[in-house]
Formats: sequence, structure tokens, C-alpha cells
Amino acid sequence: MSETPKTHFDFDEVAVRYDRCNHLFSLGIDHWWRRRLVKAANPKIQQRVLDLCCGTGDVVFSFLKHSSSKHVTGLDISEPMIELARQKQDRLTKKVWLRNKTIDWLVDDAAKIPLEDKSVDFVTCAFGIRNVTNRIGMLTEAARLLKPRGRVLVLEFSLPSNVILRSLYRFYLACIMPLAGRLVLGAAGPLKYLSQSIHHWHTQVNFTTEIADAGLTLVRKVPLTGGIVTLWVIRKM
Ligand SMILES: C[S@@+](CC[C@H](N)C(=O)[O-])C[C@H]1O[C@@H](n2cnc3c(N)ncnc32)[C@H](O)[C@@H]1O
Repeated sequence: MSETPKTHFDFDEVAVRYDRCNHLFSLGIDHWWRRRLVKAANPKIQQRVLDLCCGTGDVVFSFLKHSSSKHVTGLDISEPMIELARQKQDRLTKKVWLRNKTIDWLVDDAAKIPLEDKSVDFVTCAFGIRNVTNRIGMLTEAARLLKPRGRVLVLEFSLPSNVILRSLYRFYLACIMPLAGRLVLGAAGPLKYLSQSIHHWHTQVNFTTEIADAGLTLVRKVPLTGGIVTLWVIRKM
């Protein structure tokens, strides 16, 4: 299966501006998408969650705020992203919903995770899998780490099935986003990468086959916001 585009992106460079761009370009809906993932997982108090490609930690915090889970691990390959996640945790430390909860932050590759076999109940990944070069490696690691009947939940951008919505969205991705990127970030590159990688993901990657190749089972795909984003629910049998 083909890899992510060769313009493989250096998240270290955009880490500081990442959150602002995320919320701005999604008009704030990104919080809701992550919350949908947390709701779909619905972990019990003692169940362990591992969030891969965690970036600045928004999925990790969402689990601790909106679910019973008391222990979440966030992993990302980018040290600057994890540093920002730590700083965010410091800022949130007085919040009632963070009391008596623990977070482990790991700087590592999602295809080589330093955790024990069958040690987690949920593996999650929001807007990260599109950027991972070795996706099969990452899914195989998820299968290794999950307890039997554990689940993987993936949020990723997709293209709407409605033809008109899809054309509008393609125009937004190809023309508006790079322009807005130039205005907000001072460079079109990062948002051009986003646009290209979404196109590549949609046209070149057969994620359903990759899930099966890693020994996992696709349970369902849930389109969100007209199909701009898809929530993939995957199970270890
Ligand atoms: C678009 S960000 C998503 C961040 C976060 N999950 C969110 O919801 O905002 C993608 C993240 O994937 C990380 N990443 C890319 N390849 C990775 C890999 N092989 N292992 C771990 N993290 C990776 C990047 O460093 C970046 O922080």
C-alpha cells in the first residue's frame, strides 16, 4: 500500500501554532469531533487508554474530562508537541476534572511503542494516522497492546459523499486553506500539506485492507459533519 506523500511533514516546526490553526480552520468543530471519539469509546473507570499521535494532548484531556477514565497515556513522535501537551496539563492542573487522574506522556514512534502486550483497553488516534509512514506497523502495535476485545478508534479527515458538498470542500482545501495559511501562518506550506495529504489518504490508501492486514476487524465507519471527518471503530477479536 502506498505511503504518505513525500512532503512528509515536520510537526516540530508548527507545534506552537498548531492548536490555534486547528480551532480556526475547523471553526472550533474539532473539539466536538474528539468528543465524539471519546463518547464512542466510553471507557470504564479502570480501563486504560493510549492515544497515539497525541500532538498537544487534546484527545487525552477530552478523555479525562468527558469519560470515567482515570489513566491516559499520550504518545507522539514530536518532542515539541509533547512539551506543549505538558504545559497544557500544567495550566489545567487546578481543574476539578483533572484531580486524581494520571497522564503519561511518551515521545516515541507509534510503530514501536514501549508498552507491554495486552496492557491497554483502547488505542485512539485523531488526525494522526494520515501522517504516519508505517501505518501497518502502527496498527500491528495497536493489536499487540490491546487486551482481547479491546478497540481502536481513529478520527481522520475524509471527503463528503454528497457531490456538491465534496466539490465545495475540495475548493476550500485546495484554494482557501493555503491562502488562509499564508495570511495566518505567513506560509502556505503547512495547509498545502494538509490538503494534499487528505487527498492522498482518500485516493491512495485502502485503510480497510490495512486494518485487516494488521489482524484487526473494522466494526463501523461513522461519517461526521457531512463526511468531512470519519470515525473508524475497529476491534481486536
Ligand atoms: C495532525 S497532528 C494530530 C494531533 C492530535 N491528535 C490532535 O487531535 O490534534 C498529527 C500528529 O502525529 C504525530 N506523528 C506523525 N507521525 C508519527 C509517528 N510515526 N508516531 C507518533 N506520532 C506521529 C505528529 O508529530 C503530530 O503531532
